[in-house]
Amino acid sequence: MITLKGVEKSFGKQQVLQGVDLKIPTGKLTTIIGPSGEGKSVLLKHMIGLLKPDRGEVWVDDIDISQLKDRALNDVRKRFAMLFQSAALFDSMNVFDNVAFPLREKGLALESDIPRVVEGMLERVGLVGAGHKNPSELSGGMKKRVGLARALVMGPEIILFDEPTTGLDPLMAKTIHDLIRSMHRVFGFTAVMVSHQIPEIFGISDWVAMLKHGKIIAMAPSKEFQKIEDPAVREFISVNEENIVQV
Ligand SMILES: Nc1ncnc2c1ncn2[C@@H]1O[C@H](COP(=O)(O)OP(=O)(O)O)[C@@H](O)[C@H]1O
Ligand SMILES: [Mg+2]
Repeated sequence: MITLKGVEKSFGKQQVLQGVDLKIPTGKLTTIIGPSGEGKSVLLKHMIGLLKPDRGEVWVDDIDISQLKDRALNDVRKRFAMLFQSAALFDSMNVFDNVAFPLREKGLALESDIPRVVEGMLERVGLVGAGHKNPSELSGGMKKRVGLARALVMGPEIILFDEPTTGLDPLMAKTIHDLIRSMHRVFGFTAVMVSHQIPEIFGISDWVAMLKHGKIIAMAPSKEFQKIEDPAVREFISVNEENIVQV
């Protein structure tokens, strides 16, 4: 369980997080929505210790990671994988080596086991036989699949997805969301996703939370979230649904 208590974060004079209280349920897929520039990426970075709060606490199970340094923080981070907006693949490596990279770097598998593990993961994400391709030969959707395979191969307990469908057309975005959902079912990791793909996220998320003006203003199971009457929530949902129609 990841728990944020009263998390505040400023950059210069700009206070981005203004007291975030949030509990991420273990083993569920929780999606964080909210207007652009409100601090959703900043929030994810606090969960994995890439940023430290000015005030407040960030708990991963029974550890307040906002107090940890270097080695202790690294140990907690090993339990996480993070998928950024761009899949951030290594352009100089083919697909196979990209997926194998964390296993080799962290010594998580014997070299003789790596082909089986990597090929198996490529198959799960729908990339059978694509191991020899270079990132420059891949479509946007395929890059996202490789990024997902590279995150999954480490067997993380927690995966943070920062707008995993950015830059994809609506159909491909849906495919990638469905893939994340099905991988979540198979592997049972705790997932935290930032996305503005409404209404799709309601179909794949267990919980939805909304960040606005530096705070979590609503959080509920997906079905109930859609019925929330709060005007800020309603406005955000309807504006984003209109955007989808326009695409
Ligand atoms: N490392 C940083 N240094 C200074 N400002 C930052 C940094 N990271 C984020 N910000 C600012 O914090 C605000 C929230 O950013 P972000 O979390 O990326 O928003 P979003 O909700 O779109 O993900 C933005 O105004 C951004 O410019
Ligand atoms: Mg962001």
